[in-house]
Amino acid sequence: APLSQDALKTLVGQAALHYVEPGSIVGVGTGSTVNKFIDALATIKERIRGAVSSSEASTERLRALGIPVLEANEVQGLPVYIDGADEIDGRGHMVKGGGAALTREKIVAALAERFVCIADESKLVDTLGSFPLPVEVIPMASAHIARRFEALGGRPSVRLKADGTPLVTDNGQHLLDVAGLAITDPLAFEAEVNQWPGVVTVGVFAQHKASVCLLGTREGVRTLS
Ligand code: A5P
Repeated sequence: APLSQDALKTLVGQAALHYVEPGSIVGVGTGSTVNKFIDALATIKERIRGAVSSSEASTERLRALGIPVLEANEVQGLPVYIDGADEIDGRGHMVKGGGAALTREKIVAALAERFVCIADESKLVDTLGSFPLPVEVIPMASAHIARRFEALGGRPSVRLKADGTPLVTDNGQHLLDVAGLAITDPLAFEAEVNQWPGVVTVGVFAQHKASVCLLGTREGVRTLS
């Protein structure tokens, strides 16, 4: 029988252990694929010093499995950061933030020498933008930033909770999800949006793109680098 999407996530989560250096501190992302990696990491926890986490959710899972979690400010740098993506192109540029953790993800990615992306093959795209782009914003700037995205042809909306009120991130801010963009130059796009007042983090990861992508496919793990 073909592997389910869940099985593909387990496969790449386990494959990522190959990139974990003995005795090191590991940067850990967020999401259902990373959850599989955290489960795999727990099996070798005696061989690492701990993790720096990108979200409250991952911190909770790491601690529950007995993996020490360190503050980002306690480390000088990390050999590797392992995280999923909502979209990745053939050159390692990603859209992230579907799980609302993009700001801390970009911070931990910036601390790391290498970004290892783990994803099932449904995440591979030619051009970023089909997945609505998450952008974390200071709440008082959200309408203005939304108009700027509309001027670029985007369709922004404030991410809401089930009760209809705005979702509040781990950092106390709001999120815009911008549909309808075709991000042909991810590096330039990221640099441009980063300059808009009130933007905390744009979910394009081009400056801190993936060095390696472990893609789960029906034929097994494909490594893109
Ligand atoms: C979290 O904010 C995102 O960047 C995740 O990396 C992304 O949503 C991937 O999650 P899944 O592994 O659940 O698809």
